[in-house]
Amino acid sequence: MTPLPAVIRDGSLARCNTFGLSAVAAERWPVGSLDDLRAWRAASTGRRPIVLGGGSNVLFVAERIERPILHIQLRGRAVVDAAGDSVLVEAAAGESWHEFVLWSLEQGLSGLENLSLIPGTVGAAPVQNIGAYGVEITHTCEAVEVFDLEDGAFRWLSSAECAFGYRHSVFKRLPPDQQLITRVRFRLSRRFEPVLGYGELRAELARAGIEAPSARDVSNAVCAIRRRKLPDPAVIGNAGSFFKNPIVEPAVADRLIATHPDCPRFPGPEGRVKLAAGWLIERAGWKGHRRGAAGVHEAHALVLVNHGGASGAEIWQLAQDIRDDVAAKFGIRLEPEPRVITD
Ligand code: EPU
Repeated sequence: MTPLPAVIRDGSLARCNTFGLSAVAAERWPVGSLDDLRAWRAASTGRRPIVLGGGSNVLFVAERIERPILHIQLRGRAVVDAAGDSVLVEAAAGESWHEFVLWSLEQGLSGLENLSLIPGTVGAAPVQNIGAYGVEITHTCEAVEVFDLEDGAFRWLSSAECAFGYRHSVFKRLPPDQQLITRVRFRLSRRFEPVLGYGELRAELARAGIEAPSARDVSNAVCAIRRRKLPDPAVIGNAGSFFKNPIVEPAVADRLIATHPDCPRFPGPEGRVKLAAGWLIERAGWKGHRRGAAGVHEAHALVLVNHGGASGAEIWQLAQDIRDDVAAKFGIRLEPEPRVITD
């Protein structure tokens, strides 16, 4: 019988979440192999775990997490199949997302360059269909392998079965932590077709004097923009955008723009309109606001930060106050983007 992975009891989670919150985990199980997973399930008492990857999209509100945490550290990446320009690659869930993007570029493959420097792991990427600068992983993700904690089976879900939407997927609809992602496959290309619809990205390339960019150039430009606008979690705790950009009916956007003509609006899915949560929060007066060690980043109002020593509850309270204030001022309800763990 495979031995159980070594459990860490009552350890701090400070290094396991990019907010740098020092919640304590009653049990954290580092999962380095599929055998670890099988052994954990066989021995589990049926208590539903919390599945944790890079911890870059999670807010631990409770000071102590009683549910067992499965800390996914599965490694490996490979070219699975290559036919002409089209190449199928896969990576294990515990691989760093950005390292995987860099590896794909080293293989001469494109398709992920706009998603450079997004914190977190490969396994977390499909859950919220990570996206940036006009690209989401739904554009290249071919299949996702999951381990079902209920029946112990591994299954591949096709991209269609993942039901990707804006910061959404089937993994957010399923009972949380019943299925965990073990591997992800992407269909990449040897022929580079740049996606440069995002004005800020074109401007960055122009500034660097690059007219016909390579995939590597686009990756470098995305990294430069992100480094300028978004705080580095290694320096100041944060989980990227704290709220999703609201997607509203055109009539709602029209009403808002009638009173606030400078409110940015973007085409959303199914004829709806995507508004900029960062703009709403800034206009409500929260940009750069600080309450104790919890705050709103001074360069980007959509990012909540831990200046050092904030508790998850303090950050969550600040988030709720911002949400209520934006609702009162603009009639728009913001939804958190990271997973908020309250139990
Ligand atoms: N804006 C403001 N004030 C701010 C921040 C933004 O007015 O403080 C306005 C900007 O002027 C712009 C609009 O809001 O008109 C959009 O801002 P930005 O281009 O920075 O993008 P975003 O909508 O805030 C989204 C993603 C980011 C992703 C960028 C680039 C969401 C929730 N966030 O941010 O993803 O990197 O676009 O594609 O969709 C993340 O998910 O953690 C994340 C960082």
